[in-house]
Amino acid sequence: DRPTAAISHVYRGTFIHSTQETAVQILENALLGVDTDGKIAFVEKGEDLDRLSSMFGFSPSEVTQLTQHEFFMPGMVDTHIHASQYSYAGTALDMPLLKWLNTYTFPVEYHFKDLEFANKVYTQVVKRTLRNGTTTACYFATIHTDASLLLGQIANDFGQRALVGKVCMDRNNAVKHYKETIQESQEETCRFIAELLNKKYPLVKPVVTPRFAPSCTGALLGQLGAIAKNNHLHIQSHISENVEEVKLVKELFPDSESYADVYHKYNLLTDKTVMAHGCYLSDKELDLFRETGASLSHCPNSNISLCSGMLDVRNVLNHKVKLGLGTDVAGGYSASMLDAVRRALDSSKVLTIQNPDYDTLNFEEVFRLATLGGSQALSLDDQIGNFEVGKDFDALRVNVAAPGAPIDVFQCEEPKILLERFLNLGDDRNIVEVFVAGRKVAPFTEPTE
Ligand code: GUN
Ligand code: ZN
Repeated sequence: DRPTAAISHVYRGTFIHSTQETAVQILENALLGVDTDGKIAFVEKGEDLDRLSSMFGFSPSEVTQLTQHEFFMPGMVDTHIHASQYSYAGTALDMPLLKWLNTYTFPVEYHFKDLEFANKVYTQVVKRTLRNGTTTACYFATIHTDASLLLGQIANDFGQRALVGKVCMDRNNAVKHYKETIQESQEETCRFIAELLNKKYPLVKPVVTPRFAPSCTGALLGQLGAIAKNNHLHIQSHISENVEEVKLVKELFPDSESYADVYHKYNLLTDKTVMAHGCYLSDKELDLFRETGASLSHCPNSNISLCSGMLDVRNVLNHKVKLGLGTDVAGGYSASMLDAVRRALDSSKVLTIQNPDYDTLNFEEVFRLATLGGSQALSLDDQIGNFEVGKDFDALRVNVAAPGAPIDVFQCEEPKILLERFLNLGDDRNIVEVFVAGRKVAPFTEPTE
């Protein structure tokens, strides 16, 4: 394809990404050009510099050369994070899910009616996740429309790609002041969607967000399914996270065959749906996910921290269900996707301890889940997820030997070893630059008032 937009930047060095066929594809001494629309214009061998520079009209002297310990990887996709719960991340993990929601989560989320408080927390969570390499986040906010709109604005201002959900819940027996009537939930969801779309933020979209089946009446679930369908919107919720929750759903929805069936009945399983957890889904429910194109978000920190369950990721992949990783802040205590990568590996190893025949995930596969897998789970893989020409340049410039970072490099190492060490040992100090749609978003340029 001939270029349509001018080249704004060209990098030369190592690029590591996933493709459908290969979990880790390494392009060494490669040239990657980003155009003025933030899209990848070319990815080619370094030897082709002269041909590329004349074809795309840039000067070879403008090329940015990566150093020996550096590489680019796609930005990470956090497929499930509660922006509001960032306010208590790292605490309150001493009880199981349903009690935890009633004791900590609902009372905290109620405070987001206060826009000043919301502004503080939402600014920090966007900054923290961006700095840690989350270029795309799929956020739960709270039931408050204006605070949820503010989260969208903050993500836009900092240049993060985001799906933002105003939470819907018309059932809450424990914390009675933290819920909506069905009419409020429906009207405020429509207002949220209309006002967010009206802002025309290029990278921020609304996502229809029933909290989970136990917090919603069937009537509300049905209305939300219709809103998503009529407006072709993304949907997010939770499913089969914890045993008590699964039991409660059976009691509340006795006519449905399964938990997945509850959502399916209300048109909430679509190819733009992402459901968090899924630890206790049956093979039949996974088949329903595959048939509808709905995806799962694997949140291992949360699953372990709340003692909820263990997702059999291999079985999900064998069912060809789309899968990404999520931090699930604050059921998960870390806002970093590097933590999600490590917990996903650990969890798979725990399954292997329990069953030595288990087909353990390797780091290459988990790298794919954190990047391309996440983009597929959010149905954004036509735009992001790897370094295919035509996609947006959402990328992390990683320096494994960055000064002050927690990795010591003693010799020249192969790129795959550098990637493995970064995933296992690295942190934000190794992420020297973060790009979303070609624009450098970290280190920060603070948005102007
Ligand atoms: N299920 C319903 N709401 C929540 C939540 O906020 N966090 C988690 N981990 N699970 C949920
Ligand atoms: Zn969650």
